[in-house]
Amino acid sequence: MIFLIIGGSASQKLAAKIAAELQETLCPIETRKFPDGERYIRINGKIEEKAVVVQSTGFPQDENLVELLFIIKTLKDLGVKTIKTVIPYFGYGRQEKRFKSGEAISAQIIAELLESAGVSELFCVNLHENNMANFFNIPLHELSAMPLIAQTIKRTIDDPIIIAPDKGALDHAQELAGLLDCDCDYLEKTRISPEKVETKPKNMNIEGKHAVIIDDIISTGGTIVNASQILKSHDAKKITVACVHPVMVDDALLKIFASGVDDVIATDTLRSDVSVISLAPLIADALKK
Ligand code: R5P
Repeated sequence: MIFLIIGGSASQKLAAKIAAELQETLCPIETRKFPDGERYIRINGKIEEKAVVVQSTGFPQDENLVELLFIIKTLKDLGVKTIKTVIPYFGYGRQEKRFKSGEAISAQIIAELLESAGVSELFCVNLHENNMANFFNIPLHELSAMPLIAQTIKRTIDDPIIIAPDKGALDHAQELAGLLDCDCDYLEKTRISPEKVETKPKNMNIEGKHAVIIDDIISTGGTIVNASQILKSHDAKKITVACVHPVMVDDALLKIFASGVDDVIATDTLRSDVSVISLAPLIADALKK
């Protein structure tokens, strides 16, 4: 199978690892900005019939997205027939509906732009919203990072208990706990009085346990800091935080460690100091199918 594999500037390292898994080499690409900030791209490799483009569209979202669109459309213009596109972290994925009148449905607009540029098939990891497929007429493959996160936890933590920081993350916690064959719970908010809200583990006693908080995204870190403070007040022995997409705005990681968390692990859908779990094998497997 000969693929032209191209990594955008946000995902060069992951693209190189995917290429290695597929026993291919990365296609050289020139990508830079003109002095006025406009993007220039040039694909320097030999053109093949099939291409794989890898680019997360995290910060700076607009720049990464424009670069990705330029790559896809250029490949199309150069005669590439099949353009499998991997967007490990899909930026703008959280605005999938109009919460207030007049708002842009950003996720849908991005989906339409990608499709019109020439994407044949899209591969993403743990999308924040599960109705994203409705925006595409092309196949959308959503991959789960949980099996690879589970492998790392299995290697490093004895007898964990998986905690979702809120009910929204419970699906992830259940998937991870199922893979590890251990217990899971979520933190539930209860309004005690008009002035007082209490948040605590819904069912389990976590005293003396090694708690693993799992979430799809860590952005400002606020959700995790809150969760870790609650787990500490319930006498968790140790706290590890695991997430799929380490967005890590500003000093999010610092705030998380300062709240008493012992360790943070994340995947490499985005580059960060804690992106220790590579999803290259997962993505390469999906591309082979
Ligand atoms: C929320 O729905 C997500 O699953 C994450 O919990 C959220 O994006 C985390 O944001 P932050 O780190 O800013 O609290």
